[in-house]
Amino acid sequence: MIVMARVCIMVWFQRIALGLLRCDYMLHEYTLKQVEMNTIASSFAGISTAITQLDRFILTEIGRLDSMEHIPPNGALAGLCNGMLDAWKMYNNKTAIILFIVEDVTYNICDQRFHEFEIRRLNPHVKVIRRTLTQMADRASLSKDKELIVDGNIVGVIYFRSGYETAAYHSQREWDARLLMERSKAIKCPSIQYHLAGTKKVQQELCKPGVLELFFDDAKKLESIRELFVGIYGLEFDDAGNQAVQLAIRNPERYVLKPQREGGGNNIYGFKIKDAIMGMKDSKERTAWILMEKICPPLTRGYVVRPGGPKVPPLSNLVSELGIFGVIIGDAEHIMVNKQVGHMLRTKDATADEGGVASGLGTLDGPFLVDD
Ligand SMILES: Nc1ncnc2c1ncn2[C@@H]1O[C@H](COP(=O)(O)OP(=O)(O)O)[C@@H](O)[C@H]1O
Ligand SMILES: *[C@@H]1O[C@H](CO)[C@@H](O)[C@H](O)[C@H]1NC(C)=O
Repeated sequence: MIVMARVCIMVWFQRIALGLLRCDYMLHEYTLKQVEMNTIASSFAGISTAITQLDRFILTEIGRLDSMEHIPPNGALAGLCNGMLDAWKMYNNKTAIILFIVEDVTYNICDQRFHEFEIRRLNPHVKVIRRTLTQMADRASLSKDKELIVDGNIVGVIYFRSGYETAAYHSQREWDARLLMERSKAIKCPSIQYHLAGTKKVQQELCKPGVLELFFDDAKKLESIRELFVGIYGLEFDDAGNQAVQLAIRNPERYVLKPQREGGGNNIYGFKIKDAIMGMKDSKERTAWILMEKICPPLTRGYVVRPGGPKVPPLSNLVSELGIFGVIIGDAEHIMVNKQVGHMLRTKDATADEGGVASGLGTLDGPFLVDD
């Protein structure tokens, strides 16, 4: 068996993976709790960096320069782009380019393109191109050394801003294009294993007793990570799964029911959980979902300015969700880069279940830090 494993490792493949992460938190009784971890297409580093500048501009305009220190610095955009450039350096071929895999129509273009411009600013020698999965299916190939070639360019780093939902794969050809990229020598952001690490199922597994211990031995670190978790339960056909089903039926208002999806708008909340669970209690479908304790953040009051809204927005009850951007570069044995680079804050009406900005429910905001 050991000999077999060695043989496999000798076959060339890209061992380095890049993660541009956004870990989302909400306050629950004044401690931070993790909502989820995004490992693919983590968005809003561009616009939230601009929001920090906007907040500073506004403080200046209203004559509150004295409060400037309460607005924390935000290096999200440069941080993520430097992550891509660090990975590009590790690929170690000056002629290589960075490829963005993009949606057919990019609704979040004003966030996404900032990344391209920032890479251009940080290192004008590195070319960035954008291609859809369908264009990759038409135009990409592998050289005999497993270099990924698209339209005559060698790709050093692939940055996926699309490909996290099955709807992006219109036919088998797009799946084949993803596989081609995975098989290539290009450094993927994320690699397939980093992509899978961001699923709700993995988040649920990490909450199980004894699992974090596999990754950390420092007891203090373990405790501070565990404190970020709320209860998350799988719905398998076993004792634990059956118990979770009972919890959800008895107190649906205490939970959020989540499928293995990304991009918002897929979760089920409150009394609807009961119907959903009753409907799939006896089918295999239920194992595709996880049940997560609901986080109840404290209310703040503020004015939400939105296009098409009233000229003078009403004072409303709001809740916020903090996203922390991070960069990780590693292979199976080593972590070469692992750092926090910036933040974003989304604020939504307290009555809205989800805070999606693209869906029009949430707004981009910025933190103002005060001593408690
Ligand atoms: N446990 C929870 N408690 C309260 N709100 C939640 C919880 N989980 C998710 N939400 C809300 O739903 C939104 C989407 O959930 P999330 O797990 O981030 O799914 P997606 O990956 O589709 O964005 C979050 O941004 C948050 O506003
Ligand atoms: C970069 O890639 C090109 C195309 O495969 C190759 O000809 C060249 O030798 C590579 N350069 C380095 C430094 O590996």
